[in-house]
Amino acid sequence: KKRVVSGVQPTGSIHLGNYLGAIKSWVALQDLYETLFLVVDLHAITMPHDVEQLTKSTRTSAALYIACGIDPTKASIFVQSHVPAHAELTWLLSCVTPISWLNKMIQFKEKARKSGEDVGTGLLTYPLLMASDILLYQSDLVPVGEDQRQHLELTRDVADRVNHLYGGRKWKKLGGRGGKIFKVPEALVPETCARVMSLTDGTAKMSKSAPSDLSRINLLDTPDQIANKVKRCKTDSALGMEFGNEERPECNNLLSIYQQVTGKTQQEVIAECGEMSWGQFKPVLTDALIAHLQPIQKTYDEVSADVGYLDSILADGAAKANLLADTTLQNVYSAMGFVPRT
Ligand code: TYM
Repeated sequence: KKRVVSGVQPTGSIHLGNYLGAIKSWVALQDLYETLFLVVDLHAITMPHDVEQLTKSTRTSAALYIACGIDPTKASIFVQSHVPAHAELTWLLSCVTPISWLNKMIQFKEKARKSGEDVGTGLLTYPLLMASDILLYQSDLVPVGEDQRQHLELTRDVADRVNHLYGGRKWKKLGGRGGKIFKVPEALVPETCARVMSLTDGTAKMSKSAPSDLSRINLLDTPDQIANKVKRCKTDSALGMEFGNEERPECNNLLSIYQQVTGKTQQEVIAECGEMSWGQFKPVLTDALIAHLQPIQKTYDEVSADVGYLDSILADGAAKANLLADTTLQNVYSAMGFVPRT
């Protein structure tokens, strides 16, 4: 069976971009592949973080995975820091990766620029932690939104480099099994909603870190909050609703969101909403969002009320992940010439 790995950072609340760009596709994949979904808590400290918030957000994220339809009897759900191999492999990868590769990362450049301060080293090396998340499990596919594509490319380059430097016959000579150390993974980016845009600016990505909460729909927003955000979202003065008009990014974004939460085709959405004004479309979108999120929120309430249950799922997930990750990690150590632990 092919293996699938993905994760979300427990910083702030999970929003519609994370859901439509990534989590929603995880749900379909768990029936086809062996799946591992992590809450990437080590990633959440690359920028200054609130200590209590991290604990809370980590459990909230795991509960939301389940609420969105990830079934712990099919998929492994775990917390990244519960599997020490992630941090260990990151060090090994950081020693074989040229700084110039990391300096090219768009997210690093943007975040460093926005912060305006001397940012932590972890912000630069962060893509190697992500590469470790993926490579430790010999993953075939990594379902992510568009903004992670560059990190996936880097992961592939790092995997190739390690395979080339330490794999193959060299490793065999050392008494290892030879061949590839890492499988080279592929990104799986959805066709629609790979980049969900902000409600207040159709040219900016919906993001957890945008200062205004009005720019995003969080999965745990109440019906009133959703109605208010849609009411106040940015519109334009053109007539009717349409997909794909570059001059109307807000319109394309909201129609795409509507399409995804209703499960309709583009043609069906156009037949239904093509002639609508913004005033007519907004309540339709609001109702669809509320209807889609309600069952998720109900399950979330049930799951998060039972911390014991949630923690036991995370413990099971970590136990399984540790076994898989350790096998890869020991192979990397062996191929790089480290004396085995006995
Ligand atoms: P993060 O936490 O920023 O986002 C989690 C997932 O949501 C996607 N996403 C979006 N998709 C569409 N539209 C948006 N506006 C939007 N915003 C976010 C992201 O592409 C991502 O799939 N480094 C990663 C997390 C990570 C990871 C991994 C992912 C760590 N290790 C291993 C896959 C495999 C991140 O910061 O995602």
